[in-house]
Amino acid sequence: MITFHKETNTITLQTQASTYQMKIDATGVLLHTYYGPHIRGGDHSRRIGREDRGFSPNPSEAGLDRTYSLDTLPQEYASSGVGDFRIPSIECDCSDGSHTVDLRYVRHSVDRGKYSLEGLPAFYAGEDEDWESLRVLLRDVCSGLEVELLYGAFPRYDLITRAVRLRNRGTAPVELTRVMSLCLDFPTLDLDFVTLGGAYGREREPVRMPLTQGVHSVGSVRGSSSHQQNPFVMLCDRAATEDSGCCWGAALVYSGNFLAQAELTQFHNTRLAMGIHPFHFRWRLEPGAAFTAPEAAMVFSREGFGGVSRRLHRAIRNNLCRGPWKEERRPILINNWEATMFHFDADKIVSIAETASKVGVEMMVMDDGWFGERNDDFRGLGDWDVNETKLPGGLGPLAERIGALGMKFGLWVEPEMVNEDSKLYRAHPDWAFQVPRRPKTRGRHQLVLDLSRQEIRKYILENLRATLNSADIAYIKWDMNRSLTDVWSATMPAHRQGEIYHRFVLGVYEILETIHREYPNLLIEGCCGGGGRFDCGMLYYAPQIWCSDNTDAIERLRIQYGTSLCYPCSTMGSHVSAVPNGLTHRCVPLHTRGVVAQAGAFGYELDLNELTGAELEEVGRQVDHFRRIWDLVALGDYYRLGDPFQEEPFYAWMHVSEDRSRALVGVVMGVGHANPIRRHLKMKGLDPQRDYVVNGEVYGGDALMYAGLALPVLDEYEAVQYDIEAI
Ligand code: GLA
Repeated sequence: MITFHKETNTITLQTQASTYQMKIDATGVLLHTYYGPHIRGGDHSRRIGREDRGFSPNPSEAGLDRTYSLDTLPQEYASSGVGDFRIPSIECDCSDGSHTVDLRYVRHSVDRGKYSLEGLPAFYAGEDEDWESLRVLLRDVCSGLEVELLYGAFPRYDLITRAVRLRNRGTAPVELTRVMSLCLDFPTLDLDFVTLGGAYGREREPVRMPLTQGVHSVGSVRGSSSHQQNPFVMLCDRAATEDSGCCWGAALVYSGNFLAQAELTQFHNTRLAMGIHPFHFRWRLEPGAAFTAPEAAMVFSREGFGGVSRRLHRAIRNNLCRGPWKEERRPILINNWEATMFHFDADKIVSIAETASKVGVEMMVMDDGWFGERNDDFRGLGDWDVNETKLPGGLGPLAERIGALGMKFGLWVEPEMVNEDSKLYRAHPDWAFQVPRRPKTRGRHQLVLDLSRQEIRKYILENLRATLNSADIAYIKWDMNRSLTDVWSATMPAHRQGEIYHRFVLGVYEILETIHREYPNLLIEGCCGGGGRFDCGMLYYAPQIWCSDNTDAIERLRIQYGTSLCYPCSTMGSHVSAVPNGLTHRCVPLHTRGVVAQAGAFGYELDLNELTGAELEEVGRQVDHFRRIWDLVALGDYYRLGDPFQEEPFYAWMHVSEDRSRALVGVVMGVGHANPIRRHLKMKGLDPQRDYVVNGEVYGGDALMYAGLALPVLDEYEAVQYDIEAI
């Protein structure tokens, strides 16, 4: 519920468990007065003290009052150059060379439903859902720059979304150099900043740091959200744990350069900011023109990290992912990449599919190498015509052979890229990002297409359509295998080159949106050398994303754990691969690989023909089992039972149905020890009043949660799985 209280000039957003409040003060500055546990009413600005502080300047309206300073007051969206020296929300170059933005309240309105953003992914309201939207208009009187703050509130998930729309109502151009989507001020100092760091093959490793005075920044300037940092961050009480304490999670619905900053100020207040990274960002707003900054989604929980995760999981599944695949069970797939790399032909693909179909696998995905002269990663990207030496007759006959096995057919694509050794590059060398007179910077021997240009988007779309129409294709894996460099567009004037990073992302979104509209049943799996673009922006178009190229089950425990802080299990592409693992050379039992992969969008990534009969039977059992539990994994609540980054003997997790009548527990043993200690696994999320059957025995939900289940003694890397049902 969003309410305006006239007497106090406060606007309050209430969700089931949280309250968020702002206040229009006497000079029209929009103050942020509260975000935290749900509290009934009141003007929370009474918590804000005002003292005469040295070196905190006063706006002209303050007159002789030295206690009124933007430097000390919590702001809803921070101005710049007028006395607030903390992280600004906005920065620009005005036509007279000044940089000042002084935002004051103009008006606000509240509507039922959820606002939408043109050309950008955003959370949406489902039918009959009680969303409300708030629009607050601020203006910088001198430049005529208008800032519309948009808020969507969905009480059920304690979700508050934010976005910012700017319009130049002045008579001279304004150049934006920084536009944050989110600014959050807290009057407290005892907060930790939680981020997801990592690297290729080690995506989303949680980092928790106590805030000390100064600015703590994470972000990406790679053109994609990146393996190294993720556009999800959290602030939490210093004492917060997995299960308790106040936590504020924030996810940017964006797939390009981003910045997240947490600042502990001189007066020990905390400010969080999140938005497009200002690195090489400069957006020219002509008079009358508008700019929309991406959405940020915030959730609050008093139930620790787990509470934040479960709220975000529900919101992402129900209000961000779209299309039939958000609810329908996704096909259990097999992908040939780790089995064959570039070296395959139609018969090889069919032979993998044949064996897979016998054990119940439902879709064959042909990975990189099916087009152009793509026999290695030096050439071919950009030429989306079928390599007929490998696939005589094209995709149609192959898809038919797969179809005859009762399987669907899926395909890998990497539309944003080009190799210099390709027909496309020879015809259009200026279509790739490169700075004139400078040597090219290559990544995986490839260049990036300039998707800020309409004709290039058109070329990509035409090629995608031609491919999708040439055969019965149920799925595409949309890959992106390098970071952006040399970002310069041949058709943009010099003073607008600062728009290209963002226009590139808008180009990706435009193509994905068109494909989503024209092929509504197509399942898209996002990918970026594994999980280098795993973010809420991509999930709007692709309800699952290849979590990592690292398929080692033990390493995956960490990757899936970190990913689960924000993203639901249904979004994590997760496959059983061969041993020894290609990246780590570790051998993990097939059962364990199955248990770990079943905690996501499940599939296989190996040549099943190389398995023994007994192993194939085990695969058959895994496939059958996943069919029975997919709804728990995809739609249930996720509980982390431990932390695989700690030196604990095992890692466990569980999925619990919304009505708490069923659950699935996975346990994987880490490094083995002689004479091991017997462990008890304390479960979570069950109904303490109900009885459950575990392994044929009856336990109270309370016993399972508070006393725990005795685990068998497990060998190194061994796993157990418990299917739990209420009676
Ligand atoms: C990326 C992906 C892999 C595979 C290769 C193909 O690395 O993450 O899964 O598709 O590209 O080149």
